[in-house]
Amino acid sequence: MTVKTAKSDKDFSIYFQPPSYKDAKKRGKENIEVLYDFNIPEEMKEFGQGKRYMIRTYGCQMNEHDTETMKGMLEELGYTSTEEKQEADVILLNTCAIRENAEDKVFGELGHLKHLKLEKPNLVLGVCGCMSQEEGVVKRILQKHGHVDLIFGTHNIHRLPALLQDAYLSKEMVVEVWSKEGDIIENLPKKREGMRAWVNIMYGCDKFCTYCIVPYTRGKERSRRPEDVLAEVRDLARQGFKEITLLGQNVNAYGKDFEDISYSFGDLMADMRKIDVPRIRFTTSHPRDFDDHLVEVLSHKGNLMEHIHLPVQSGSTEVLKRMSRKYSRELYLDLVRKIKTAIPGAVLSTDIIVGFPGETDEQFEETLSLVKEVRFDFAYSFIYSPREGTPAAAMEDNVPEDVKKERLYRLNEVLGAFSKESNEKLRGEVVEVLVEGESRKNSEVLSGRTRTNKLVLFKGSKDLIGSFAHVRVTEPQTWLVKGELVAEPLQMLS
Ligand code: 5AD
Ligand code: SF4
Repeated sequence: MTVKTAKSDKDFSIYFQPPSYKDAKKRGKENIEVLYDFNIPEEMKEFGQGKRYMIRTYGCQMNEHDTETMKGMLEELGYTSTEEKQEADVILLNTCAIRENAEDKVFGELGHLKHLKLEKPNLVLGVCGCMSQEEGVVKRILQKHGHVDLIFGTHNIHRLPALLQDAYLSKEMVVEVWSKEGDIIENLPKKREGMRAWVNIMYGCDKFCTYCIVPYTRGKERSRRPEDVLAEVRDLARQGFKEITLLGQNVNAYGKDFEDISYSFGDLMADMRKIDVPRIRFTTSHPRDFDDHLVEVLSHKGNLMEHIHLPVQSGSTEVLKRMSRKYSRELYLDLVRKIKTAIPGAVLSTDIIVGFPGETDEQFEETLSLVKEVRFDFAYSFIYSPREGTPAAAMEDNVPEDVKKERLYRLNEVLGAFSKESNEKLRGEVVEVLVEGESRKNSEVLSGRTRTNKLVLFKGSKDLIGSFAHVRVTEPQTWLVKGELVAEPLQMLS
């Protein structure tokens, strides 16, 4: 449904039906169709000739990958990219809704772009991604940011060509947000760059952790067919990509929605191992669905990297229950033991939330003690941020702000110490590095990642970018290691 709204405040409620959380929460049995017939109509192929686009991406790798798809479509329409706002004819903000500060950044940017829009009235300014799926956000843009031309949701990305055309022709704001997910569209164009590629294996999430907005903004779990995923990865291997990351909000639930075949994430990884591509990664795992078959497959290593991102969120069973994570502290620790025994050298990273409603000092201490028991190599830590419409937002948020900050500080101290300790263990070791590019701070220095996803900085010729190098670790630090190129003939270490 495309809803055109008058750009004046008073009319919008007449024309506009906001995206609905109630609809988004429905998890029907109806089959998702897989479509292979996306194409850009011949008459639109010159549509963007001579015009420039810029996409600003916020949030996770899923969004980064959606941006690659939108770039692919825009370039098939004839647009070319620019990094300069002033040069752009189309600016899209691909937004993130996971925490309030992510949203604040986008509203800040919309404020800045108002001036540009006044200077360049023909600029098309669009907002897409997870924020567009939120009822409150769309209303706020309609009321307060009338200079936006286009809003479209995460299930409407494939409609970008038609929506852009609408936005050019219409004097009104064009809004298209489907609350319920659409079909899986297989053959969307993608603009990929560099030596690393990201591949969706599934969309959506059915876990409904009580703090999380994702099941509402990304819809129900839908797995891509294995033959489509494998064909895409084989094709990327043929094109020479060196590292492929399989993406899903909860990759361990892959295949659970197939009704005609029994094929799990473990099966998919076993098939990935047979593909001639040097490195395969995946993100993100949910501890609840991480089964023994997957652990067994990963233990054979080869092109399957021994780094597992396994969000724990809290070390307290009581808090995990209120978060609706569906595992206990003990179950998580058992899984960690299983992984560490089966996959020697496995590196574990995690996500942790502090200050969840009702989290007591003792419960926070349990998170610290879990961190000390697992000794994560690295972790992302967050202060809980209430998200409108989620069950946790209705719980009493009774942890004072300064206590939340203090907990985050203490947690980060411990995480930093373990990260440094694990990097210290690499001192003197030779690691295999996929060289990604020049370091951000110093163009003389190259940067890359180990199999275990550790950031390595070393001096070397730019010719090495895109290939594998062996580097001896000389200066381990907290969040990265520095080293020296080893002038040995190159062979894979795994
Ligand atoms: N507040 C704080 N952190 C959150 N995350 C998800 N939702 C919230 C929220 N409402 C964190 C979780 C998740 C990561 C991607 O973001 O730790 O794993
Ligand atoms: Fe959010 Fe939980 Fe789904 Fe992860 S598993 S996307 S935290 S609801």
